[in-house]
Formats: sequence, structure tokens, C-alpha cells
Amino acid sequence: MIKSTAEVRQAFLDFFATKQHQIVKSNSLIPGNDATLLFTNAGMVPFKDVFLGAEKRSYTRATSAQRCVRAGGKHNDLENVGYTARHHTFFEMLGNFSFGDYFKNDAISYAWEFLTTVLGLPKEKLLVTVYETDEEAYAYWKDIIGIPAEKIIRIGDKSAGKKYESDNFWSMGDTGPCGPCSEIFYDHGEDIFGGPPGSPDEDGDRFIEIWNIVFMQFNRQVDGTMEPLPNPSIDTGMGLERISAIMQNVHSNYEIDIFQALIKDTASLLSCNDLDHKSLRVISDHIRSCSFLIVDGVIPSNEGRGYVLRRIIRRAIRHGHKLEAKGHFFHKLVSSLIAQMGDAYPELVQQQATIEKLLRIEEEQFGRTLDRGMVLLEDILTNLQGDTIQGDDVFKLYDTYGFPADLTADIARERQLNIDHNGFDIAMGQQRERAQQASQFGTDYNLQLKSDQKTEFKGYDNNSASATIVELFNNTDQEAVSELKAGEQGIVILDHTPFYAESGGQAGDSGFLHLDGGYFEVKDTTKLGNAYAHRGIAHTDMGLNRRVKAEIDVERRAAIVKNHTATHLLHAALRKVLGEHVGQKGSLCDSEKLRFDFSHFEAVTADELKAVEQLVNDEIRRNHLKQTESMYIEEAKEKGAMALFGEKYDDEVRVVTLGDFSIELCGGVHVERTGDIGLLKIVSESGIAAGVRRIEAVTAIEALNFVDKQAESLSNIASLVKSDVAGAPGKVEQLISRSKQLEKEIAQLKQELAAQAGSDLVNNAINIHGVNVLIADLNGVESKALRGMVDELKNKMQSGIIMLATANEGKVGLIAGVTKDLVGKVKAGELVNMVALQVGGKGGGRPDMAQAGGSQPENITAALASVEAWLSDKLA
Ligand code: ALA
Repeated sequence: MIKSTAEVRQAFLDFFATKQHQIVKSNSLIPGNDATLLFTNAGMVPFKDVFLGAEKRSYTRATSAQRCVRAGGKHNDLENVGYTARHHTFFEMLGNFSFGDYFKNDAISYAWEFLTTVLGLPKEKLLVTVYETDEEAYAYWKDIIGIPAEKIIRIGDKSAGKKYESDNFWSMGDTGPCGPCSEIFYDHGEDIFGGPPGSPDEDGDRFIEIWNIVFMQFNRQVDGTMEPLPNPSIDTGMGLERISAIMQNVHSNYEIDIFQALIKDTASLLSCNDLDHKSLRVISDHIRSCSFLIVDGVIPSNEGRGYVLRRIIRRAIRHGHKLEAKGHFFHKLVSSLIAQMGDAYPELVQQQATIEKLLRIEEEQFGRTLDRGMVLLEDILTNLQGDTIQGDDVFKLYDTYGFPADLTADIARERQLNIDHNGFDIAMGQQRERAQQASQFGTDYNLQLKSDQKTEFKGYDNNSASATIVELFNNTDQEAVSELKAGEQGIVILDHTPFYAESGGQAGDSGFLHLDGGYFEVKDTTKLGNAYAHRGIAHTDMGLNRRVKAEIDVERRAAIVKNHTATHLLHAALRKVLGEHVGQKGSLCDSEKLRFDFSHFEAVTADELKAVEQLVNDEIRRNHLKQTESMYIEEAKEKGAMALFGEKYDDEVRVVTLGDFSIELCGGVHVERTGDIGLLKIVSESGIAAGVRRIEAVTAIEALNFVDKQAESLSNIASLVKSDVAGAPGKVEQLISRSKQLEKEIAQLKQELAAQAGSDLVNNAINIHGVNVLIADLNGVESKALRGMVDELKNKMQSGIIMLATANEGKVGLIAGVTKDLVGKVKAGELVNMVALQVGGKGGGRPDMAQAGGSQPENITAALASVEAWLSDKLA
């Protein structure tokens, strides 16, 4: 009997294996072959290139249980989660695929056989849809499978003008493989609300789509045209959770085994008794997507995939908040998820610690602002006119309190309100513009300059070259000119050049363009379209078509490339030491240092930094020969070459390999052998944005200078503490502990002195109804010393009452003492409290001795002045 979710998953794969399908393991949630797609949102995504004919596999039939996320992008279910019985941010899609092998008929037959024979679903519970004009599919369902006509529903385009915009025409995204489809629905029964597909009540939960069979026929182009695929193919998808719900005789995905366990664990963690609470569903759904996204390398951030992850985490936290969660709870659910899904996905188990840590950090961060944001939101809601929250307000919540717009929308929805999405987008756009303007401010070069020239780069193997001037710009007017006069600043474009133009983090070259009569001094080289712009000052008159000898500053270039190659080693070492989630976020290598920004969720510890530095230096000493090769991007990726996330690469790429340690796509210049770098020293590590760290390091001669400087400081310290370098730390330690000891002694002495001074106060005692009373303001004496003084004074006075006050750094110290014979009349605790109340404090204590503090030194005088009358009352 197939019942549990795990059994359904296995039965599906086994069934298609008997139909000669290759079982393919679930791919990552981050599509490897498509930068336009946010997440793997269907089982077919890993096979996209196979459908398009761009990739060949050894099989033409495949089956998989693919993990999917539908949050953000074309297929986005985030806002529905928790409100329907069947939407998730994360789910598993069971699928069978034919790459130009079988087509419609077999696909339909297989699906029917699996549902009715293997799973044993009653035929009368099933109905199907076809694309309006798909006569072939219609006829097959009716005549061969034998479904009654009234249970085959034709679904057309949503509106007449929009061809293929239909529930029965499936596309992966705005571009890519697509085609008409046929869907199988399950009727959950009359007691559930909802109508059949195509009817006005179709969004109810009675008729649930369980299986979508897509007849892949086209590749949708950017302009909307449909290009036929090389071979008609099959892509199907069945939500594992939906079919499991049916097998477990429940009507909501949230009632299946996996979710029930997650919901129970969440409820007990949050002490929630209402197991049907929507927020429990939301949290149980979100822990799945968040954990799997982290497993696949996404880190919460403010852009792209990281931002979607952050939004989901924050939505979960907010729902925990609704259930009055005490403290951070979300990360504690990872172990519960592992109990449910760890067997099917061992990667969850391997990365448990990382997932928990990242979630906890997010919880801590968001927890700090959630309450304050809610206060602002309540305020906005109280003053709301109409039923829409203004875009500016939504933006303010986002900008100041980190409330993603869909979080605000979620809260609004609970109260039957909307948000102004449009207004939010406008406010967001304005902010982006401001940020852009700010970052452009202060650039040296006019960004409007354009060149149509194409310069050929000769500098991988040459430091100099003879070349022709093909274009000139003058700096004052920022215009193309035919001449540059001696003394003028400008830009020289050559037909080819050994000068590297700044890109990929490698600084541009400097040097000289020699020509008859003088030279042009190149201070920097940058790209201007396909042209290389040599920027600098003319030291002689120059004109178009003149020949020059271009010579780079060889020493500077040598220093730059050492830093560049070292950056590759550092990148690889960071991934080895910290983990595969480390990705390059930015880099800069000039002649003095290298700077590398990367994704990582917390400060790198001293031990980790040391390990990274050692590893880089090991690889430097292994003296790998650098190898550069041109290859197709696919081949490069297959070899494991690290590419920049989100960067667009040409089909043919340059790959730089350093032994068995590092392989990266890179157009820059590098050392011949890693040994040329000599030495790398890490100078600093810091955080520059949430989830992004920065390492600065130096190499070669700069590294030696750095070490020298440190050695010099150390030897200065040694000579200051009169020791040799080796003995200096011990000596410094001694000095510190000696100085601590001395501080203690001084404090002790101060106390004794104060006590001494205090006992001299005895002479200031006054007489109130025959009792010796001493009231004194000891301004400046340490509070700690008061106790000793009172003891001393009591001894001297034999019988009496003492009230002392002192002020130190804005704080008041008070003490009252009463000798034993008088405690029947006056209690020290009461006395001190009477005074404390007047200086912003409160106190109490024993009848013979009581202390208190306060915060208003300015009121001491008045407070002490009241003591005489108070005592006079008590002693009368
Ligand atoms: N790719 C199809 C879907 O996601 C099967 O519905």
C-alpha cells in the first residue's frame, strides 16, 4: 500500500524506471544553465538545454523528483502560502521527460496507468483539461483512455488578443521551452468548496490539479515569437505533496505526514494549541524553502535570490510573532525538517549547522527592528483613509525597518486591506536613482564619451608594441579631436596595445606612448566600449594616424598581476576553509594591494584567517605553472571553473588554471608561476554589508614591507619593556598584571584615607534632642569607601546617627548608620530611603546600616538639609 510521501516518491521513480526512464537526482534550486531564472521552478529546468537541442544526454527518457521553489519570478506562490490548501514556496515535483522520444499518446497513457493502476485512484474521481484547439489530446483521452466527454474540459486563452496565455499552455519563463498542456484533476468531493476547471469557482479546493503534461513544442523568444523545438518533447509535473494528500485521504497538503510533523513541532515550540492556525502552516512551509535555499548556497541579502530568501525568513518570523513566539524559534525547526526529509536529502544533514546559524543570525537581525516596525505600521493603519496602504509608507517600512513589501501586504491582507504596489515601486526606483547619482558623483571621466573603435589587446605576452593612433579625445572639452597639443590632458586610442584596461578587478596599466619628438604619459587605461582608452598627458603634439611605441610600466604591471593571481588563490582558499557558499562579490587588485569581497555570514575568525593565509602561501610555494585556455563556457563550467554570479559570459571564455588548486573564468593577466608572488599577508578582514565580508591583503615586496613594519613595532615594544623580542610578550603580561595589582592597592589606600578623613568628621556632629548626629556631603569620595567610614565613625561616636552622601560621575551614593542603642528610635533603612527619594533613588537596608544610590547629585544639598527636621521629629 503506497501511502507515505516517501513511498509515493519512490513508487513514481520506480514506475518510470520500468518504462525505460533514467532516474535523475534532484538538481540544485539555483538553475545552472539559466541566469534569467531566479530558482528552479519546475522539474524540467535542469533539462532546459536538452529540450532546446543545445545539450545531448546519453538517454532520451528521464524521471526525477525535483525540488522547486516558487517565490519571486514568473511562478510566484509566496503570497498564497498559508491561505490555500495547496500552495507552497517549496515543493517537490515528480516528472517524466521525453527528449524527442515519445509524445502525447504515451505521455497520457503512462500518467493514467500510474494513477489508476499503481496508485489505484478511482477513475471517476479524475477529470482532465486540454488546450482548446488540441484535438489530438482530446481524442486520445476520449477514445483511447475512455474518459466521458463531460469530464474533458477545453481551456482556451485568457483573452482573445493574448494567444497562448492560458492555464493550458505552459512556459518556463518569459522565454524558453513551452507548449500546450493537458492537466489531470482530482475531485476531493462535494463537501469541499470549489468548481471544476474553467468554472467561476475553480479556485476553490475541491478540484485540484495534480498532474500537468506539457507537450513541449516551442522555444519562446524574447520578442514573443514561437520557434519550433528540434523535436516535440514531453515534460510532466506532479506535485508530490498534492498526490500524497490524496493517498493519505486528506484534503489539504498541510495535512500530509511531513507537514503534520512540522506543524506539531512548530506548535509545541511556540506553545500554540490551535493546530489549524494558518501561521503554523506558513512557518512549516517556509522552513522548507529557507533550509533548501541555504543548502543550495543562497545567503540572505538585499538583492536577487538572497533577498527572496530574506523575505521568506522574515515572513516566517512575523508569523511566529503572531503566535507570540518568545525568542528566536525559526532555526530550531531545522532538526525537525531533517527528521522528515533528511533521508531523501542527505545534504540537509550535512549542512545543518550552517542552516541553523544563518537563520539564527537573520532572526536576531530582524528581531531587533520588528517590534519598532510594527509600531509604525499600527500607526499608519490607525490613520489610514480608505483600504490601501500608500506606496510611500510601504517603502518607509521597507527602508527603515526591513519590512519587505510582501510582508506588509501579508499583514494588510489579514485586515482586508491592500497595499499600493505601484507607489512602492516608484519610491524604490527613486531611491535607486539617488544611489546611482551618488555613486557617479566625483568620477574623473565623462561617462558620455563613446568610441566605435576596437582595440586589440596584445598585453598577455608583450610589454610593448608599435601601434597607430586611431582616435583622440581632449579632456577639457571631452570631445574627439584630431590633435592633442603638448601639455594637454586627453585620451589616446590605438589600434592595438599592450596596456591592460581596467576590468575584472585588475587595475589598468600606466606607462608611455613614445613618438617622434616626445611622449604621452599614460596614467591609467580603461575600456571605452571595445576601445582601450589610454588616459594621461601629452608631452608633445600628437595627431591621428601617428605611429607610437607603447610601453607599459613593467614594474607596476608585475606588482598588479601578483595581486591578481593571489586573488584567485585567496578565493579558492576561502572556499576550502569557510565553505562552498563563499562567492566573489567584488575585487580590486592594483600595484599596492588586493581587496576581495565575498559572501559569508559572519566575521572570519582569527584561526580561519590564519588557515586561509597558510593555504595560499602553501600554494604559492608549490609554484604552480599558470595555464590559460580558451574553451566553451559549458566545458569550463563542467571543469568546475568559478564564474562570477550574474555575470554574462560569451560562449567562448578564457579559463585560468593554477595547478589543481584554482580554476576561474578570467580575462586578466597573471604571473607565470605562483611562486612569483613570493608571499601573501592578510592585512584586514571586515564586514562591508550584511552577508558580505572584505579581505585586504598584500603580496611580494609589499608583504615583506608589512612584515618588516610589524617586526619593527615589536622590537620597539621589546626595547620599551627592556627585553628581547622573544621575551616581550611575557614581559608585557607581567607589566599588565603588575599594573592591575597597583590599581588595587591604590583603591585600598584611597579607602583607608577616606575612612581616616571620615573619622575626622566626628567633630562636625550636631546635637538633636541629646543625640549626636553627623550629616555630611563627601562630594567625590568613592561610594565603596562609605561603609568603612560609617564603621569608623560609629566606633568614635559610641552613640549617634550618621548620614553621608557622595557624588561621583553623576551618580549619588548614600549611607546611613545608627548605633545599636538608637535603632529603637531611628532606622537606618528609613533614613536612607527618605534621602534617596529626593535624589532620584530608592533605598533600604538594615536598621543599623543602610545604603542607597541616586541619579540627581544636584539635589544632594537640599536632601541632606531635610535630615535635621526629619530626625528631630523622630527623636522628640
Ligand atoms: N513544467 C510543467 C509544470 O511545471 C510540468 O507544470
